[in-house]
Amino acid sequence: MTRTVLVTGARGKTGREVVAQLAERDDTVVRGGSSRNSQEPTTVPFDWRDRSTWPKAVDGVDAIHLGRPDVQDSAELVTRLIAAAPAAHIVLVSEQGAERVAAGGWVRQVEDAVTGNANRWTILRPSWFQQVLTDPRYFLDAIRHERVISLPTGGSPIAWVDTRDIAAVAVQAIADPATHHAKAYTVTGPEAVTTADIAANISAAIGVQVTATVPPLSAAVAGAAPWLAEVVGDMFGRVHDGTFARVSDTVEKVTGRAPRTIGEFIAEHADQWRG
Ligand SMILES: NC(=O)c1ccc[n+]([C@@H]2O[C@H](COP(=O)([O-])OP(=O)(O)OC[C@H]3O[C@@H](n4cnc5c(N)ncnc54)[C@H](OP(=O)(O)O)[C@@H]3O)[C@@H](O)[C@H]2O)c1
Repeated sequence: MTRTVLVTGARGKTGREVVAQLAERDDTVVRGGSSRNSQEPTTVPFDWRDRSTWPKAVDGVDAIHLGRPDVQDSAELVTRLIAAAPAAHIVLVSEQGAERVAAGGWVRQVEDAVTGNANRWTILRPSWFQQVLTDPRYFLDAIRHERVISLPTGGSPIAWVDTRDIAAVAVQAIADPATHHAKAYTVTGPEAVTTADIAANISAAIGVQVTATVPPLSAAVAGAAPWLAEVVGDMFGRVHDGTFARVSDTVEKVTGRAPRTIGEFIAEHADQWRG
């Protein structure tokens, strides 16, 4: 039986990998929801802020890979989208340590919107994405031009995970909702490393010194809206207390493959930082 799947945030770091992996399956029709115009044949218009795009995007879907919208009213948007596709299996991308966030906190509200409303659901709680190192909106330009990685981790390590491995877990969940319904999976890479470790690894790969700096958290949230400052502050609290350093065996257990290491990611993408 062919299953139809909507992937929100289809151009995002996780969404694009889920689209690519679902597109390889014979038993799945994938719709990549994007708020931007695209020539990709699998792409359909989907904008969290334009509900006229929703009915077509969710029409007849069996599952939705839900890239969490990082906006203040995320839980409300997610609840409304589920109401528009009440039968769909929802696979949500949340974040590592969400279970430690206080009840009523933003991260928990979004998860609760899924678990409280979806017919079937799976929650993915990934660690930090390795792909932020090559994302122009995060570290790509700082590494390439300033030769610095600046992150208020307090020096704590993180179990960085490749979004291709997150996607592989998501695809298994989508393909087998009976097995993965009502499960919350922490999804990490195979080891926790500091940003100093990453800077040293990239330096060796490109033959140019890259330095890690650890600014105070206040620098990361300066100017942010209060709700966002709270969410980001809480998240870095879980970096500082070691929550994001915990390694899980989810990727291996669910996909049968070991997760990619940060070293593999750096070797594969070194050209992007050479400048
Ligand atoms: N980055 C990390 O290390 C990390 C770690 C753990 C969890 N997370 C969480 O994982 C989730 C996905 O993160 P990500 O880094 O994969 O995201 P991302 O790369 O920032 O991509 C998000 C996508 O959302 C889409 N989008 C933007 N505005 C939209 C709108 N108005 N309507 C519909 N779509 C819109 C964009 O795609 P289009 O332009 O095509 O619409 C964009 O590509 C987020 O909730 C994030 O907090 C991230």
